[in-house]
Amino acid sequence: MSKDPASARFDARGRTRPGRLRRLDAWLLEREGELLREPGRAPVVDLGLGDEPATTREWLGSLREGGIDAPLIAVEIDPQRIARARRLAPELDVRHGGFALPIAGRARLVRVMNVLRGYPAPRIPGALAKLAASLQIGGLIVEGRTCAYGHVLTAQLLRRTRRGLWREALLLSTDFARGFAPNLIRDQLPAELHRRGDGGVAMASFFEHWQHAFGRARERGERDPRTCFVRSAQLLAQDVAGLELDVEALAAGHLVWAPARGLPPGPLSTQRSTFPHTTSRVAGGDNPPTPGRIFERG
Ligand SMILES: C[S@@+](CC[C@H](N)C(=O)[O-])C[C@H]1O[C@@H](n2cnc3c(N)ncnc32)[C@H](O)[C@@H]1O
Repeated sequence: MSKDPASARFDARGRTRPGRLRRLDAWLLEREGELLREPGRAPVVDLGLGDEPATTREWLGSLREGGIDAPLIAVEIDPQRIARARRLAPELDVRHGGFALPIAGRARLVRVMNVLRGYPAPRIPGALAKLAASLQIGGLIVEGRTCAYGHVLTAQLLRRTRRGLWREALLLSTDFARGFAPNLIRDQLPAELHRRGDGGVAMASFFEHWQHAFGRARERGERDPRTCFVRSAQLLAQDVAGLELDVEALAAGHLVWAPARGLPPGPLSTQRSTFPHTTSRVAGGDNPPTPGRIFERG
């Protein structure tokens, strides 16, 4: 079977390590339980299987153990990977396709992990727009990346509203297996927030504040990675609006940033945002998404 040129160009070709998305799966069950449990047959979609379907299988297991019976559809662009996944995991519904999802109806949630990091920045808004077109109102795109083993994981939550795709929150997460320092997490930011441009500038400011808060925690004698994470997040909240400070979640290594004005780089449109990165407080992106922007297709 011939290799699809798109996947050959955009896949990092690394091995897909089993287990690396488990923490995300558990977190989503908790946080998005209502959406996942909504009645109806709107599917959840896993875009990008990897060289073997391990993380997709694990997600299916996590959903079923959580009592969720929404159909799961795996979408992959590489025909060889599809053939392998069908052989190794006959229980999965694996379909050939890309960002224009090959599904009937609308998805409730689309997981896009470790996929967009391989794409050039100018292609990302278009990719998200295509995904959003297949999403129900209130549905969610979970787009992010991990280190190879999943010890560090980040994901942006993009919610489809009646007015457009809303940059709702950013999950910054670690299991502390590699210790903790803010830059460890910064290295794994979703592609849009890692690169230069408005998103990158805003996140640079966020991480400068977090590094400073981390330094203050260490000055107070904190050394244990988990304690430093919790304490630095609490100190960071003095400078950054919109941090969720649930102590249990923080102790589990999950920090969520959900600024009222939305995440940078702002509305998902073709217009540039004017993110104010020079203020002393770190703000979110421009707000709110206006009607008629690229995602409203009736
Ligand atoms: C690095 S793997 C990620 C696997 C899994 N999501 C994970 O994080 O463990 C990326 C996969 O995405 C697939 N991919 C890349 N672009 C895609 C697209 N536009 N549509 C569907 N799959 C795509 C690649 O072929 C590859 O199998």
